[in-house]
Amino acid sequence: MATIELEELCKNFSDGTKALSNLNLTVADGEFMVLVGPSGCGKTTTLRMVAGLEEPSGGTITIGERVVNDLSPRDRDVAMVFQNYALYPHMTVAKNIGFALRMRKVPKDVIDSKVEDAARVLGLSAVLNRKPGQLSGGQRQRVAMGRAIVREPAVFLMDEPLSSLDAKLRVQMRAEVTRIQRHLGVATLYVTHDQIEAMTMGDRVAVLKDGILHQCDTPDMLYDRPANLFVASFIGSPTMNLYEGRLVEGDDGLAVALGEQRLSVGRDTAERRQSLAAYRDRAIVVGIRPETLYGVQAAGLGPGGRAEEGNGALKVKVELVESLGSEFIVHFRIGAKTVEVEAAGTDPELTEVTVGGGARGGHGEARVGRDHEIKAGDEVWLSVDTNRLYFFDLATGVAIA
Ligand SMILES: Nc1ncnc2c1ncn2[C@@H]1O[C@H](COP(=O)(O)OP(=O)(O)OP(=O)(O)O)[C@@H](O)[C@H]1O
Ligand SMILES: [Mg+2]
Repeated sequence: MATIELEELCKNFSDGTKALSNLNLTVADGEFMVLVGPSGCGKTTTLRMVAGLEEPSGGTITIGERVVNDLSPRDRDVAMVFQNYALYPHMTVAKNIGFALRMRKVPKDVIDSKVEDAARVLGLSAVLNRKPGQLSGGQRQRVAMGRAIVREPAVFLMDEPLSSLDAKLRVQMRAEVTRIQRHLGVATLYVTHDQIEAMTMGDRVAVLKDGILHQCDTPDMLYDRPANLFVASFIGSPTMNLYEGRLVEGDDGLAVALGEQRLSVGRDTAERRQSLAAYRDRAIVVGIRPETLYGVQAAGLGPGGRAEEGNGALKVKVELVESLGSEFIVHFRIGAKTVEVEAAGTDPELTEVTVGGGARGGHGEARVGRDHEIKAGDEVWLSVDTNRLYFFDLATGVAIA
């Protein structure tokens, strides 16, 4: 049992690629930490440095009490599970799981009992005598985990271990891996590019982009209080709707002007975000999660009997309605400028923001219940939970706290 501590960890490849910049991250004993981010953001590189397969350009890696920078992979007491787990096809499941122990000349009866223990935890007891070819994809993935488990490492490192599985199995294995990790209580650094996987599995999630850590927090905090526009747009599905808006004085307190429309800001929000006051009469970015747009009313009526200028509602033009069975995803257009997000390379505080027109100008999505009659071409009011609006500085992309 141990912690993983990364301090100012950097990696510049010889061809000039800056894969990781000054990463500071601590994985507590027993913690499941997920490293998530778009392709090429430096996740695998980070994991390989912790495992000792890649040499850092700077910074320190501490596992337990030891700085391991100069230790060989074998001496670091880590076990890594990869996406392509490459089991030995000619060996039984039991032999595959016990392989590392046999290499270490561990006595046979000890190996047998450790393999049996691991198989029990993994639900593989019944298939110990089969060969990998006779297993399902999920079982094979569990054998790969078994090989890591029997070594009883101080920490686990996992690089997209579920990505080769089909969608349904992946969802099952998410829960399985989480259960096994909890059971073993070993600090784990788990890499994925899938934000849903990250949010469902992680005790905490570290969001990486272009080699820079943007935020490390619990899933709920990432969702409720994203530090900046990049995190806000990365977490959540469909992604948060982002528009340029202006904070103005409304009839009863603060309001936000979106194009021609006005939306009053919920009192809770205004009270919780004291710094909002300083942005009065200034352009800002307003974030509205699709799931906080809920009711639908035909235009003209207004929600809850209210007419036209909606307090807690926005008038939109429906472009497309997708049914997910349980609900609709409504694609709409609104008379406001969409904000597109691109994180800038060097400064974690800076997110490049493009405001505008373009093909997606004014585009938005809402998740609404299926009990609404709604179709493309309709003009409707969408109710907005105005206590769940998000606000960001237009110049820096940083959340307004
Ligand atoms: N050996 C290498 N030499 C030069 N550049 C490299 C090398 N390995 C990785 N890179 C670059 O470093 C950056 C980070 O790569 P890395 O493999 O860590 O990304 P990742 O986050 O794991 O992406 P993915 O989700 O696609 O697996 C990328 O720009 C990649 O092209
Ligand atoms: Mg990778």
